[in-house]
Parts: sequence; C-alpha cells; structure tokens
Amino acid sequence: MSYKNIKTNLFDEIIVIEISREGKLNALSGDTLDELKEAILRFSQNSEVKAAIITGAGTKAFVAGADISEFQGLNESDAYKFSVRGQDIFALIENCYKPIIAVVNGFALGGGCELAMACHFRIASEDAKFGQPEVNLGIIPGYGGTQRLTQLIGKGRSLELMMTGDIIDAQQALQMGLVNHVAKDKLEALAKARNLLQKIITKAPIAIGAVINCANSVFKQNLDGYQIEATAFANACKTKDFKEGFNAFIEKRTPKFIGK
Ligand code: COA
Repeated sequence: MSYKNIKTNLFDEIIVIEISREGKLNALSGDTLDELKEAILRFSQNSEVKAAIITGAGTKAFVAGADISEFQGLNESDAYKFSVRGQDIFALIENCYKPIIAVVNGFALGGGCELAMACHFRIASEDAKFGQPEVNLGIIPGYGGTQRLTQLIGKGRSLELMMTGDIIDAQQALQMGLVNHVAKDKLEALAKARNLLQKIITKAPIAIGAVINCANSVFKQNLDGYQIEATAFANACKTKDFKEGFNAFIEKRTPKFIGK
C-alpha cells in the first residue's frame, strides 16, 4: 500500500511513521487513520522491524487533532462509530508487543494528544504543546483521551485539562508525567527516541512484549471507560452546542454555548 497522508522511513530496524498533512497541521482525517492502522499492522507483523517512532511532519504540529472538517453532519450513530474506530486503532498501538515512542513536535491537541498517549511513552521537543480542547467545540475527547490522560497524569490534572481545554507546554507536560523527556528540538527528540529504542531492542523481545502487556493490564479493569467515552462522545455530537462549536471553528470565532 502506498500512503498519501503518512510517510514511513526504516533505518536500523526502527521505523519512523510520520503523519504528513502539514497544511492541516497533520489533522487526523479518516483516510489518515486508515493509513496509520495499516502502517501499525505492517509494523507488528514484520519481524525485521523491531521498534517504531510516531511523529508529525514539519515543526509546527505533531497532530492538531481529528480533522474537524469531517465532523460536519455527524449524527449520534456516526459519532459513536467515529469514536470507536479511533479507539480501536489507538488500542493497536498501545497493545503492540514491540516498543512505540511518540516524538511530539509542536501542537499535540485533541486526537493528537490522544495518539501520543496511546504510544508506550513520549519525548517532546521544547516547542511541544499538549491539550484536550474538545470542550471548545462542545464535545469531549473520543479517541481514549478521557481514559489515558487520567491514567498518565491523575484525575485532578486530567479533569482540569479536559474541562478548561487549556494548552500546556513541554515543561509542564514533563512535570505532570505526560512526557518522559524534553529535547531542544525535533531532531534532538528523534535522536533521543532512537537511542532509547536501540537500547530497548537489544533486550529479549518476549520480555519487552510482556512488560507492555503487564503495564497495560493495570488499567484493564477500566475498559468500560472506553465504552462510556464513545457513548458520551456520541451524545455530545447531537447537541446544538456541538453545531455551534463546529461552526465557530470554521468561521474562526468564539462559540456561544447554550447548554443544549
Ligand atoms: N482539523 C482540521 N483542520 C485543522 C485542524 C483540525 N483539528 N487544526 C488545524 N487545522 C487547519 C486549519 O483549519 C487551517 O486550515 P486552512 O489554512 O485551510 O484554514 C490550517 O490547519 C492551519 O491552522 P490555523 O488554525 O490557521 O493555525 P494557527 O497557528 O492559527 O492555530 C491551532 C493553530 C492548533 C491553535 C488551531 O489550528 C486549532 O485550534 N486547531 C484545532 C485544534 C483542536 O480543537 N483539536 C481538537 C479537535 S477535536
């Protein structure tokens, strides 16, 4: 399969998967998600590739979220499917038995923050910015963010970020444990990820797969949370406030929410 919205580059048994829609700040359109899924499945099945890095093209954004232009006309049932589709693809990343690190450059918002959180851990460049700004659109995170952000930084901080829609910088993300390391720029972050992965892939692959699986299993009791998230996302998508949030984004103005 040749890709349109992602680029892959294999070097020294490590594949770099780059989300590549720079003009739209690498927003995750449906096509992009399909390509990402394909790339992850191929990576999982190819015994010659030992580890992966997921990053965003250019320097301005890792991924600025799901592609908001595809939200138009989303009804409750489409919205539920939309959420579960993204959740399932991100679960493939989280549950992959080979290591996957996110290298976060620039904006990692909404689905972008959720994609980074689905990776096994994250390295940010100094200019990285994280947030779950869905409330500004009258919706909620729908690709696992309500679950993984809470797992990674704790309930109070997670709720504050999701309720305010605030955007935090790389140093704040480091303090909160959202990222493991901050590098000067994207190149340095990529080099740091590569060094760590080179170390990890010298270890026994079965042991690496097992620690990923065991660490993930800490949270398996909360699996229902993903179902609740998909339902809540679908409910939010049928409100007038969501229409208003969507229109305000397109018209580049501040939304006026009415609670309906
Ligand atoms: N979906 C679709 N398109 C997006 C997008 C998204 N999530 N984020 C950015 N874009 C597009 C913009 O519409 C714009 O396209 P245009 O040039 O055709 O108008 C282009 O990417 C550049 O974005 P712009 O808003 O002009 O850049 P900026 O530097 O002024 O602002 C952001 C950057 C990230 C603050 C702003 O783009 C933004 O708020 N994006 C949405 C973030 C979001 O809410 N994500 C969660 C979605 S659920």
